Amino acid sequence: MRELKFYSDNAVPLEMHKVRVVQKLNLLPIDERLRAINEAGNNTFLLRNKDTFLDMLTDSGVNAMSDIQLSAMMIADDSYAGSATFSKLESKLQELFGTKYVLPAHQGRACEHILAKVFIKNGDIVPTNYHFTTTKAHIGLQGGKVLEVHYPEALIVESDNPFKGNMSPELLKKVIVEYGASRISFVRMEAGTNLIGGQPFSLANLKEIYSICKHHGLLLVLDASLLSDNLYFIKVREPAYKEVDLRKITREIADHADIIYFSARKLGHARGGGICTNNTELYMKMRELVPLYEGFLTYGGMSVREMEAITVGLEETMDEDMINQGPLFIEYMVNELKQRGVPVVTPAGGLGCHLNAMKFVPHIPQSEYPAGALGAALFIASGIRGMERGTLSEERETDGKEHYSNMELLRLALPRRVFTLSQIKYAIDRITWLYENRDLIGGLKFTEEPKVLRFFMGRLTPVSDWQEKLVTKFKKDLGNSL
Ligand code: F0G
Repeated sequence: MRELKFYSDNAVPLEMHKVRVVQKLNLLPIDERLRAINEAGNNTFLLRNKDTFLDMLTDSGVNAMSDIQLSAMMIADDSYAGSATFSKLESKLQELFGTKYVLPAHQGRACEHILAKVFIKNGDIVPTNYHFTTTKAHIGLQGGKVLEVHYPEALIVESDNPFKGNMSPELLKKVIVEYGASRISFVRMEAGTNLIGGQPFSLANLKEIYSICKHHGLLLVLDASLLSDNLYFIKVREPAYKEVDLRKITREIADHADIIYFSARKLGHARGGGICTNNTELYMKMRELVPLYEGFLTYGGMSVREMEAITVGLEETMDEDMINQGPLFIEYMVNELKQRGVPVVTPAGGLGCHLNAMKFVPHIPQSEYPAGALGAALFIASGIRGMERGTLSEERETDGKEHYSNMELLRLALPRRVFTLSQIKYAIDRITWLYENRDLIGGLKFTEEPKVLRFFMGRLTPVSDWQEKLVTKFKKDLGNSL
């Protein structure tokens, strides 16, 4: 990576683009923010975007698009079958991953649906470096189970381990002995491991896991949704790859997986998804399901305009100045918050800055959803919406008991090229205020709890009048300020 030094100031991340299209934002007064979050059942997924100031819910489908992506959308070839636009996307993926076959799907979880239907038998297990919500749900629906086989460091929130997303080869070997290879549908490696704070795996680790898989005749499936972040971290944290071109690293990653799937809402910076492989037999098995669930083989549920944008977005992912725009801004936010004593996931990962609710609000028991409560409190204090990544995002056990999450995180996603440094400074300021008033934050309880993926649509209410007290204190400290 090219290094940028500052002469007279502390280093700050620098925007390597200029803003040419803008969207007006709305910062509601605090009383209206309190009303909005309660109308949304204290669930940030249910907030209306017009009530939100900085939307840090996710980077999914909301990264800023480039002028080249937008112009490519205008020349898309609209046809049901044999679209030239699909051929371009297919060629780009073949070029980057070196894979022969490309199956389109409307988004990442649609790829997971197809993979689960084809490969999971009742009673199967899927060892993974860490699960993702939709992956786990699809595997579960087919009667399978995910097994986390990471190192203990993955769950140590504050650490200096550069590759917390690594899979433990020792544990994987144990799992293979314990369950037998025939019960393992595939081994799943997730790039930029989402739920533990956007933490990468190293290429050396991927290679080692792949060789264990080959030794036992197992398939390795790579979830490449967060590949851009993982690529950046391999380049800056894995000494062997410091001088290696991003295209070469990408190809080396792809060479160590049997199937690669991705959400193009993340990788490729548009909206869609795809599955790539070199294996004809695997391709034929999965191909059948694409027209059934997604759409014909040359669009798979995606609009041709999005496919054009993905093709360009994939090419832009090979640009260091583009992929560094997430991690550098996240690192700045994480370091500034850390200096102010705010508990955050370290080292800074991809995707976003993650607040550690277990330490931020240690007085809230997991049964009252500390990360969800922190999300509601932050919205009230700032108009910023984050995403709960803790117990709320888990499913109950079959006997109805809560499954307490290993971590209680509030994720503040920084979609690439969307926020400016001053907006990030505003976020840091309001989070710092909230941290200094953390004792005022209380828990939440469900008023409406869906059975599957409850975090999307569930509604909650505060367990006491803590939110009114928080508003009173905000007004006392910050007067009539927004
Ligand atoms: N895999 C990973 C690692 C993801 O982060 C996501 C989505 C998916 C699969 C599913 O892809 O949304 O296109 O269906 N993550 C989003 C997020 C939802 O906000 O982190 P999708």
